[in-house]
Amino acid sequence: MKKKAIYASLLLACTVTSLARNPIYLDPDQPIEQRVEDALRRMTVEEKVAMIHAQSKFSSAGVPRLGIPENWMTDGPHGIRAEVLWDEWNEAKWTNDSCIAFPALTALAATWSPDMSALYGKSIGEEARYRNKNVLLGPGVNIYRTPLNGRNFEYMGEDPYLASKMVVPYIREVQKCGIAACVKHFALNNQEVRRENINVKVDDRALHEIYLPAFKAAVQDGGAWAIMGAYNQYKGQHCCHNQYLLNEILKRDWGFDGVVISDWGGVHKTNEAIRNGLDMEFGSWTNGLNWSASNAYANYYLASPYLKMITEGKIDTQELDEKVRRILRLVFRTTMSKNRPYGSFGTMEHALAGRKIAQEGIVLLKNRSSLLPIDISKVKNILVVGENAVKKMTVGGGSSALKTKYEISPLTGIETYARQQVSVRYLSGYTSVSSMNQKENIGEQLREEAVSAAKEADIVLFIGGLNKNNGQDCEGHDRTSLGLPYGQDTLISQLTAANPNTVVVIISGNAVAMPWVNNVPSIVEAWYCGTETGNALASVLFGEVNPSGKLPFTFPVLIDDNAASALGGYPGNKTDVEYKEGIFVGYRWADRQKNTKPLFPFGHGLSYTNFQYSKAIADKSVMHVNDTINVTVKVKNTGKREGQEVVQLYIRDNESSLPRPFKELKGFKKISLSPGEEKTVVFPVTLDALSFYDDQKHMWVAEPGRFEALIGSSSMDIRGRFAFELK
Ligand code: GLC
Repeated sequence: MKKKAIYASLLLACTVTSLARNPIYLDPDQPIEQRVEDALRRMTVEEKVAMIHAQSKFSSAGVPRLGIPENWMTDGPHGIRAEVLWDEWNEAKWTNDSCIAFPALTALAATWSPDMSALYGKSIGEEARYRNKNVLLGPGVNIYRTPLNGRNFEYMGEDPYLASKMVVPYIREVQKCGIAACVKHFALNNQEVRRENINVKVDDRALHEIYLPAFKAAVQDGGAWAIMGAYNQYKGQHCCHNQYLLNEILKRDWGFDGVVISDWGGVHKTNEAIRNGLDMEFGSWTNGLNWSASNAYANYYLASPYLKMITEGKIDTQELDEKVRRILRLVFRTTMSKNRPYGSFGTMEHALAGRKIAQEGIVLLKNRSSLLPIDISKVKNILVVGENAVKKMTVGGGSSALKTKYEISPLTGIETYARQQVSVRYLSGYTSVSSMNQKENIGEQLREEAVSAAKEADIVLFIGGLNKNNGQDCEGHDRTSLGLPYGQDTLISQLTAANPNTVVVIISGNAVAMPWVNNVPSIVEAWYCGTETGNALASVLFGEVNPSGKLPFTFPVLIDDNAASALGGYPGNKTDVEYKEGIFVGYRWADRQKNTKPLFPFGHGLSYTNFQYSKAIADKSVMHVNDTINVTVKVKNTGKREGQEVVQLYIRDNESSLPRPFKELKGFKKISLSPGEEKTVVFPVTLDALSFYDDQKHMWVAEPGRFEALIGSSSMDIRGRFAFELK
């Protein structure tokens, strides 16, 4: 009797507690996987199907009955996009969504500083969190294959190792804010020409050695919770539902447990969308209002067509459950996670973070006769010329465009610095406004006005470049030439002829041709730097900050010095584009050219001080398979002011059974040195730094033989080398 009474009371107790305690999926202390399974089994098929496709322009359904919230996506990689209307791209005209715009990702890559990447991710993650989004549609890591690609400014350059190292801290810090980073565009979206359907043909070595590594690092090192499929095709299948890329490489080989989200309008077939690894469909052909039947979201490929197949018994819910598992995992990692922090928005802290990143990313390309930094006590009047000195750059460019709390223009930044001590005069010198350009020889008038004024100035600051208009660094529109638009080349040549003390500042997200390069004493690549642009640029021009940026991609002299153009592998034909250069992208191509040198090489960037490198040495010259060889170099600041240097390690394979690049970036370290200070930099080299992808064995291999470690201040400025052997 006694025993039964005990059992009965125990049973009662359990029942009471289980009723009193939340269901598992609602209990934030339960393991995520248990919460996923518990929620999944409670959902109806209709609720599951509703969850895997958009319900509005940037959101998908939750499960109101179960208290599972909606998923809210937001652009973009450089800041939190203004709220748009439920079904449309048009802005909702809210008055509380003006954000801080951070520098474009080329500027972040140009810092070569994982610390800056972490600062970036934390700052933008806090902004997304405050705006109650749970998926940030960025960062983008598509490789810079051609300087004509309209979206290069959103990405991290031409080298897979640099992009891999620079994308990881950004992702980790965004996700610490309880926001999923959605790394894009997976994969091979390296041009905007015919991006919706172009089929990319690329060999396996280039795929694995050049185009996939940054995504692999994002997943395996960054722990990305979301990936966005690209618009283009690969192996004849759209990347948003691509068996090989999504099911085999991303999910099976790399172990990705997050959500694959389509690009907006990147889904084309229900069957492939069901089976080939897509988890959420967004932006399909409808604006939800009138481009089809009513409630067009129900007509999405993964909406009623899919539900109909299930209810008619044509397909079971195995794939559906897998999609929903991943989406629930996303929800429990973000909106329903226990320790989700709070965000902050439009703060001075975020603005100053952006300024710091810009200051570390601006690249001093040339500084003959040390015209820079400008010594404010030695100049009386400065002439600023160029439309980019005043043009807002946080607008335009496509989906990464932002509505900002404020944006300091280069001119404003310069005027702030000059204060009353120096007179600053501004003339546009040229205009991008086509209606203006139609007036008779307006361009000539503007140019002549600027050139004659240049003669009177102590120093001329030309601030031009590209401007995110169509065809000038913009999504959906590649450039058609390498040169600067709007007659800037002629103007620059005439300005330097009128006044040799002319500095050229290029604001762009891509390399540009510089026919005037030999006549201009100082040249700065200033990127698109967002809200604090003017303050960051002025602090470098006037020397408060010593520039330390290095180029994340090659500046070719001519467009045909670029492999994609030289071999006719860009932009392809109506259906296909063939990456004929294979692994020889960027400096990997430049190193093979006997008769041409880049205008400015990958990894190049000057300082207001100088750095001296010692010989490169190592702790061994024979390396076995599981060894690490530590390559060491001492770097000394031999100048009069503190500065930062990015020490770069390249590895050269002197004997390989397959063709390999002359050298490949396999390490970098940004160090700060006071005048006279010397630091030792150690690069641990392991087998993966020596390996290449063998497309016969379908695996990475390192072949025994002779190698060299090259230590450089840029890819062309090698300061030390150490030969060693792999046994
Ligand atoms: C755009 C872009 C993608 C963006 C998405 C939402 O077409 O390709 O990067 O996040 O659609 O705006």
